[in-house]
Amino acid sequence: MRSLLFVPADGGSKLEKAMASGTDAVIIDLEDSITPERKSFARSATLEFLRQASATKQRPRLLVRINGLDTGMTDADLEAVVPGRPDAIVFPKAEGAPSVVHLDAKLTAREALAGLPEGQIKILAQAVETAAGLFAAGSFRGASARLIGLTWGPEDLSSELGATANRDPQGELTEPYRLARSVCLFSAAAAKLPAIETVYVDFRNSEGLRRDTEAARRDGFVGRLAIHPAQVPVINEVFTPTAAEIEKAKAIVAAFAAQPGAGAVGIDGKMYDRPHLVRAQALLTSLK
Ligand code: COA
Ligand code: MG
Repeated sequence: MRSLLFVPADGGSKLEKAMASGTDAVIIDLEDSITPERKSFARSATLEFLRQASATKQRPRLLVRINGLDTGMTDADLEAVVPGRPDAIVFPKAEGAPSVVHLDAKLTAREALAGLPEGQIKILAQAVETAAGLFAAGSFRGASARLIGLTWGPEDLSSELGATANRDPQGELTEPYRLARSVCLFSAAAAKLPAIETVYVDFRNSEGLRRDTEAARRDGFVGRLAIHPAQVPVINEVFTPTAAEIEKAKAIVAAFAAQPGAGAVGIDGKMYDRPHLVRAQALLTSLK
């Protein structure tokens, strides 16, 4: 999934717009974009939307972001939305493996009640969104077969730290959030999961989004959360390998295939060894 577009669950026509946006996944949000008074209405709207949207052919993946484990709302969220068979749950303020095991157990029970196969509904964890989550982020490996990726969130973190901003006047993340972003990358790699870059809140600034997303791809993220349909084409483009990158990857794989037993090969005057081969193979696999 290159792009994952958030829509508030009570967003009405925005839900339709999101489906038509070209996004790889729609995230129907029950958490931060829904006020406490609207949670109940938002849950019913989510179920209704899931029922109708999941029947669509050629649709984006349908994810639901629930409220975190310490809100007391998680069970009501899952009870309402699991019968709609979302492809995955976005799990906010996750705090390491124990929290994922906890959510996994809740999903297992709800799947049984809804007559769904166990393990069908996946989990995308917002793994570095709290200070405790950051310290627990090294523990996700093997936590649950439902896990399909890790992401992070500077907005909740900066509010928890009592910070006045998380970006400097040039728009660059300040030090504490650069650390959190790196922890997300390392924890995803350690758990052998895809890392998904967080939202870019300045949704009118498409040049800024492009630059920031190119940096994300350079550093190892494979997709990005979005908050506005205009962000989707930019994100999809940045995370789609270019023809030149595909050619290069094929050349590296071919050079190693032509020299069995070689630990390193030279192409156009440059050395390529095992890490390059692994990266080239991963790029070609991602196209399948
Ligand atoms: N998904 C689908 N459609 C969206 C959308 C989204 N996330 N954000 C905006 N749109 C639609 C608008 O409804 C509008 O449709 P219209 O032309 O039919 O009226 C069109 O795109 C243009 O929207 P625009 O006027 O540029 O923005 P806005 O002021 O209406 O909305 C936000 C701005 C931030 C409120 C909106 O983008 C949004 O709700 N984003 C998601 C917020 C969220 O889920 N946050 C939680 C995760 S961090
Ligand atoms: Mg949040």
